[in-house]
Formats: sequence, structure tokens, C-alpha cells
Amino acid sequence: MTDNLHIVVLAAGSGTRMGSAHPKVLAPLGEWPLLRHVVATAETLEPTQIHVVCGAGVEQIRTALGYLAVNWVEQPQPLGTGDAVAAAMDAIPDHAQVLVLYGDVPLVRPRTLTHLLTTAASDGMAILTTELAEPAGYGRIVRDAAGGVAAIVEDKDLAADQRTIREINTGLMVAPAAHLRDWLARLSNDNAQGEYLLTDCIAMAVADHRPVVADPAETVAETQGINDRRDLACAERVYQQRRNDDLLAAGVTLRDPARVDVRGRIEVGRDVLIDVDVVLEGEITLGDGVHIEAGCVIRHSVIGDGGRVMAHTVVEHAHLATECQVGPFARIRPGTELGHRARIGNFVETKNASVGASTKVNHLSYVGDAALGTGVNIGAGVITCNYDGANKHVTTIGDDAFVGSNSELVAPVEIGAGATIAAGTTLTKAAPPNQLSLTRKEQVAVDNWRRPKKNR
Ligand code: UD1
Ligand code: CA
Repeated sequence: MTDNLHIVVLAAGSGTRMGSAHPKVLAPLGEWPLLRHVVATAETLEPTQIHVVCGAGVEQIRTALGYLAVNWVEQPQPLGTGDAVAAAMDAIPDHAQVLVLYGDVPLVRPRTLTHLLTTAASDGMAILTTELAEPAGYGRIVRDAAGGVAAIVEDKDLAADQRTIREINTGLMVAPAAHLRDWLARLSNDNAQGEYLLTDCIAMAVADHRPVVADPAETVAETQGINDRRDLACAERVYQQRRNDDLLAAGVTLRDPARVDVRGRIEVGRDVLIDVDVVLEGEITLGDGVHIEAGCVIRHSVIGDGGRVMAHTVVEHAHLATECQVGPFARIRPGTELGHRARIGNFVETKNASVGASTKVNHLSYVGDAALGTGVNIGAGVITCNYDGANKHVTTIGDDAFVGSNSELVAPVEIGAGATIAAGTTLTKAAPPNQLSLTRKEQVAVDNWRRPKKNR
């Protein structure tokens, strides 16, 4: 069946109803632009070639998605879907089967397309259809007295008695290349839209005694086209429901599937629990028993077995070993690596930092460009001063060191293993191992000082 399959993805429409400066097919759905979803689905059918027809905005589309293994075709003017398919036909041999997809119909599933392809006779057409309670705006499937497909009539060209037809053309269809080439060449733009309509090929196929079948899609949602922001939002919900179903099927507990968004690939262990209002982006691994509390954003990260990401924490490009605890209200930035049982507490920011096993940074600290050993205790409000205005410098802290609250560690600086840094120290030189280092003004008590009093 996929022997000589060519897939044409139409993406040259203007998409004015999105009200965007960017081509519609670059609008985001989950982790990808719309067009990438369609191409990814097309790829599952293992076609000989995928052709993407672009119009205005082709430069932007190719800049964003130039890495896709497709044949980029330009349709100079948006003269209609028939003209768009015709633009791709140069690169398609006569013996091919042509599957037409839309760049703005991103949710169609591979199995639906496989079914459409098997439904089509080798010398005939198959049209993916659906029934809508409110079919206005769509091309209708017009049937003959025997119930066979006779034509597709566009909404604007409908006769009064055809308006009530609820069976509509989703736009996705299959046709034999040689015949399609011939039909496309004979299209006229003598219709209400003044366009070359791909859908006019159906009546031509019928006239040529080619078999034409309507194949109803299993679900309406997957045939939904995206024309405006409301459609995009609806599609996002459908997509998220699928992704959340995948997580549930993989054994994850979602406190509310409607309040977890997945924009990437998630690998999960057993007994993972995700609370509400969580966003997961990019490549993420969640080990056994990981618990993500409410309001977290996690991007491109690994959370080891037994990890707990407490409420309202952001974790990006980080690697957490087993049994780490971060948050609530922590910001774990790129290049953070936490060892077994490390803890990062509230209002702590880490960046480009390796934190050894069982080390604790529990309150209100900034740890950047730093290497912390094991069993280190960082007091409240400790800051690594890593940036001198021009360059970043490294702070190194040995095993079992204790850094007192509100200390500033002016990098580059090193704290030896077992060292103690007294609270409020501004450390500018190496602190020797196992010793107390401090910089501290002497405390004075002022005699005869009176606290100001308010006049009553
Ligand atoms: C089309 C179908 C209609 C169907 C509907 C489903 C035709 C003539 N009509 O109508 O039967 O019910 O889709 O949503 O096919 N495009 C191009 N170049 C063009 C025009 C369009 O590449 O010159 C692309 C668009 O980017 C889009 C797709 O073709 O991906 C459909 O175009 P659109 O204008 O949305 O078609 P409709 O009028 O909605
Ligand atoms: Ca449309």
C-alpha cells in the first residue's frame, strides 16, 4: 500500500483569521508547530516522499522547520486547493497514490489515514468525511440516487436543498496520481470563490467512472481544522487529553488530567504522582515514586527515583539524582546537578551548580557556577557572587562545610572540606578546611541611646 505513496501537505493558505504576523502552520500545538505534527503523522505512513506546499511566509516556515525531510513546494498565489496540489504534482510520478493532508489539520491520527488509504481503490479516490450538526462553511458530500458519492459542493456554491447535508468533506483525500494530474489540469475557477477547487475533482472522477468512496473518520475531533485562535485552543485541549491519557496509561496518577499540560516526551517510572497546574516541557524523565506538587514547570530534566518537586517550583535543564527535594518556590536553572538526597528549599535559585549528596540549601540563596561537595549546609541567604560585571567565576565548597547565614562568597573562591564560615561573612579568600573563617565587624553597645518615641 505504501509502495508508492506521495503525501501532499497543503500549507499555503493565508490564515488571516489567526490575526498573526506568522504563517498559521507555525502556530504552536503542544511542543511543536502545527505543520510539524502533520509531517510527523505523515512520516508514520512511510511514504516515498512528503511534499509541503507553502505560499506567502515560505521563508518563515523554512527557517522554522527547514530540517524536516520534505520536498518544499511553492504555490506563488493562493489560487485554491486544486492549484496547490497541482504545484506539487511535478515531483510526483503517474503511478503514485497521492494523499492530501492539510497543514492546519494537525490532530488526524495515523490509523485514520491508513484506513483511508486502504479504503481507496488503486484507480479511485477516497475522501475522509465526517458528519456535523452545523455543517455551514464546509464542502458537502452530495450523493446520487443510489447513495454513491456524486460530488463535493463547496458551501458557497450550494443549492438551497443541499444546505441541510450534514456529511462534510474534511479536505483529506486520496487519489491516483495520473488521473489526478488530468483532473487538476481541467479545473476551472468558475465558482463562488473564484478558486481552483480540489473538490471539483470528485465529480470528474465520477464522470470518468473511477470509484469514489467516502470514509467517515472515527472521531470528529481529529478532523478539526484550525482557522482561528478558538480552534487552536480547542485543538490544544484535544491534544493534551491524548497526552494525559498516555500518562495515565503509563501508570501516572494525575490529580486532574485537565490541569496537566505535556509539551514533550515524558518517560515515567512507577507510581509517579502529578498534582494540578503542572506544565511538562521537552524531554523529561520522572523516576519511580516521583511526586510533582501543584504549580510546577519542568523542562528538559531528569528527576530521579523518589524525587519530590514541591509546589511552585521551576526546574530547567537539570538533573536530580535519587530522593532529592526541591521547593516549594525554588528555581532550578540550567546546569544544576543534584546528588542523592540533596535539598533545595524555598526561594533558592541554582544555576550551573553541582550539589553533592545530602547537601542542603534550604532558604533564600543563590548558588551559581558552583561545585558543592557532600553533606554541605548552606545557611539562609547565602549568595555566590559569581559575576563581576564581565566574567563568571566559580565557587568551590568541600564536603561537610557549613556556610553561615547571609554570607557572600565572592568568586573565584574556595571553601575547604569541613570549614565553617561564620554568619555574615564576605568571603574573598580561600577558607581553609576544618577551620572557622569570618569577616565581621566587632559588636558594640551604645550607652545612653534612646529609641525615638512618637509624639502623641
Ligand atoms: C476546504 C475544502 C472543503 C472542506 C474544508 C475542510 C476545497 C476547495 N474545499 O475548504 O471542501 O470542507 O476545506 O476544512 O478544498 N490552501 C493552499 N493553497 C490555496 C488554498 C488553500 O495551500 O490556494 C491550503 C490551506 O492552507 C489549508 C487547506 O489548503 O491548509 C484548505 O484551505 P482552506 O482555504 O481552509 O479551505 P476551505 O475553504 O476551508
Ligand atoms: Ca479552512
